[in-house]
Amino acid sequence: MFVATSRRTPPGPRGYPLVGAFPKARHDPLGFFTECARRYGDVVSMRLGVHHVYLLSHPDHVKHVLQDNARAYAKGPTATRVRALFGDSLTMIDGDRWRQRRRQVQLAFQPGHHGHFAAVVTRAAAEMLERWRRLADRTELVEVVSEMRRLTQTIIIRACFGQLPAGEVETLSEAMDAAVGYVDRQLWSSVGWLELPTPAGVRYRRAVGVIDTLVSRKLNEARGSAPPPGSLLAALLESPVAAGREPFTDAELHDELKTILIAGHTTTASALAWTWYVLSDHPDAMGRLVEECRAVLGGRAPGMEALPRLGYTRRVIEEVLRLYPPTWLTARTPIEDDTLGGYTIPTGALVLLSPYLTHRHPAVWEAPERFDPERFSPARAATHPAFSYFPFGGGPRRCIGSGFATAEMQLIVAHVAQRYRLVLLPSARIVPAAGLTLRPSPAVPVELQRTGDD
Ligand code: HEM
Repeated sequence: MFVATSRRTPPGPRGYPLVGAFPKARHDPLGFFTECARRYGDVVSMRLGVHHVYLLSHPDHVKHVLQDNARAYAKGPTATRVRALFGDSLTMIDGDRWRQRRRQVQLAFQPGHHGHFAAVVTRAAAEMLERWRRLADRTELVEVVSEMRRLTQTIIIRACFGQLPAGEVETLSEAMDAAVGYVDRQLWSSVGWLELPTPAGVRYRRAVGVIDTLVSRKLNEARGSAPPPGSLLAALLESPVAAGREPFTDAELHDELKTILIAGHTTTASALAWTWYVLSDHPDAMGRLVEECRAVLGGRAPGMEALPRLGYTRRVIEEVLRLYPPTWLTARTPIEDDTLGGYTIPTGALVLLSPYLTHRHPAVWEAPERFDPERFSPARAATHPAFSYFPFGGGPRRCIGSGFATAEMQLIVAHVAQRYRLVLLPSARIVPAAGLTLRPSPAVPVELQRTGDD
């Protein structure tokens, strides 16, 4: 399949001296990479600033990098742009250190912990719906991007630390918003890796400081007395010991918690916001979803046991993750020369994989732009080539929270759909914004229409 001989450099856009194609990419990264794949094919090369970049979109190549030859690839230099958010956690480290850490962290994400997580999700969703009821009574609009962010922040904070006072949840949520917002803006900035003493940079470091302080305090409290039962903090503290594995140091645990807080809400918030946006544009799918939720749940709040019977709900979410994968770009760096599609990928290059591109690859997906949840019916899903669909990554570094995330999204969508149809304002103009995650921008204002008795 992959020939050993290598050809010259793959085709790609020409750039400018010194900066390469970076100015074009930073202006509209999603549009730029989409155009590159359309124009130059499955392996595209270009220079982005100091990096020699290879953009891969064919599922076979994605599989090679993430799974078959995963040991030859490290996370690479771009990860430094998000280091303040993720520290030295699982997402950032490589090699044996990563393998050992993955085994430790994995224990906290076992299905046995899902029940507690589901209870946290259901409670937070019920609180949001109660607030929405008052807004709907006053025919006030709801803005879905911020609502889903607020909901998923509350969930991940309580999942990590138990039922905190509302003030603490708010402080931490605000700090996460400020920190993630700054990184989003800096990701494609030409000076993104510099720690500049600008007012925005100062606010960012202050926000990261607030997150660090709160996480450390929770960790100290848990070390001093019993950690909140059922919480991820308790699982992280207790599971490695129970399994006879090395416990975490405080510094390791701190960075893992911080990563779970950020990675565990930015992604699900974006996916949920897209879900409501897409459903608003597809009333038939929304109708079928409401029907399924009412038939399965009969007006009750959903729990884990209902999820296998909410098949259509799940297919809707899977199809939304195909069209708008929150983690739309993943980077790797080969630690030894590799060969792909007949081209040499040299040590130290920057390899970019984008589920957004692969999920719309015309050789794999029929009418890729069309929203069609039935692509994920069991019979049709079985025909998808490996790695043609990878919203959660794949291979050994596949998302550790994918089970939590899928359950969370299914629970929330089912809970909300039993009560409301979210109807997008006709004047709203929405485009994908490609930052740390791919989210609808600038906002998704909706009217809440009741789907049943409230
Ligand atoms: C829709 C929701 C989510 C999406 C789309 C998503 C996507 C991803 C992807 C694509 C990766 C692999 C990145 C790479 O290969 O470089 C990843 C890794 C990771 N995710 Fe998620 N994620 C989601 C939810 C979550 C949640 C809820 C958590 C935690 C509660 C989480 C924690 C992590 C961690 C810790 C890693 C690093 C794994 C490793 O490197 O071994 N994610 N995620």
